[in-house]
Amino acid sequence: MKVSVELIRERLAEIRPAGLRRDIVAAGMVRDVALDNGKVRIDLLRGPLPQPVLDATIQDIKRAIGAFDGVSAVDVAIAEAAAAGGQDIGPIPGVAKIIAVSSTKGGVGKSTVAANLACALAQRGARVGLLDADIYGPSVPTMMGESGRPEVVEGNKVAPRQAHGVRFMSMGLLLDDTSPVIWRGPLVTGVLRQFLKDVQWGELDVLVVDLPPGTGDAQLTLVQQVPLSGAVVVTTPQDVSLIDVERGVAMFRQVNTPVIGVVENMSGFVCGACGQHDDVFGSGGGEALAERFEVPLLAAIPIVEDIRRGGDAGVPLVVGQPDHEVSRIYARLAAQVADALEAGTGQSAPRIIG
Ligand SMILES: Nc1ncnc2c1ncn2[C@@H]1O[C@H](COP(=O)(O)OP(=O)(O)OP(=O)(O)O)[C@@H](O)[C@H]1O
Ligand SMILES: [Mg+2]
Repeated sequence: MKVSVELIRERLAEIRPAGLRRDIVAAGMVRDVALDNGKVRIDLLRGPLPQPVLDATIQDIKRAIGAFDGVSAVDVAIAEAAAAGGQDIGPIPGVAKIIAVSSTKGGVGKSTVAANLACALAQRGARVGLLDADIYGPSVPTMMGESGRPEVVEGNKVAPRQAHGVRFMSMGLLLDDTSPVIWRGPLVTGVLRQFLKDVQWGELDVLVVDLPPGTGDAQLTLVQQVPLSGAVVVTTPQDVSLIDVERGVAMFRQVNTPVIGVVENMSGFVCGACGQHDDVFGSGGGEALAERFEVPLLAAIPIVEDIRRGGDAGVPLVVGQPDHEVSRIYARLAAQVADALEAGTGQSAPRIIG
């Protein structure tokens, strides 16, 4: 069969990058396909893909399309989300502080930490918002146990949902699983802007932003645009963690956002394969971390089945079991975050690090 743009598109629709729920065509990442004398050029919007995933995807594309008879070369050009993402989002009226919860890898418990931290801050009496900026894998509605659609209120604003004393917003509230949504890179930053500007947050002492995992350009774009007062980096106690922390800290330093500290989640991790107990920060590791990156280890949260159960049930552990040992760890975490924010003024806290 003679190669054609249609055939190429069909083949591209079979490529699904790790962590993305749709193929690259359905996700709206393929902006253009051109075929000229056996030379193929594909314009790809990078969307929120972390660099390694993007690299792997480009390789997949080259391999798949290069295999067609009659194709002599495959060129993949990347358009940055930032190109159309636009300018900075200024201060949000009524919102005193915005903090980011970030991680360099997916699945480290970032959303769990964000949800429990938000609830723990609310338990201290703060007016708290939680913004799920993870547009491809929103999990906050499940964790907060509330998935009703947000209402449109006066001035074309959208009211956040509320659960456990926390106002929150998530893409998961606007989509159901069958929504045929075509996402493009620029839209990702656009959605965050809307979540910040067009949601009627009201008066908030602190807005916790659950960032998409990773420290690539997509995340950098987000943290550049949002007026952050501080960041919390979540990691797991595996051997790559220190490198992870380094990347996370470096990203926030680039945009002059103080890193309030690191949360080690799933502490006391026992490797299923080798049975070895991994304890990177456990014994004196906190000091090593502080020394190396000048950021404190704020909390070490163990693996506890009740944490997962709480998340699945929509009742964060700190709400469901406030007297739990881990809820106390979260309360101390919230106190440290509140103190760090208090030490700052307005939306630009002094640099707590460095
Ligand atoms: N300390 C913990 N003990 C037990 N289970 C945990 C713990 N922290 C998180 N989990 C569970 O691990 C899973 C992943 O957590 P979570 O969704 O918070 O990670 P994430 O970093 O936000 O992931 P993603 O990259 O997909 O956004 C969830 O099922 C959660 O309930
Ligand atoms: Mg998450």
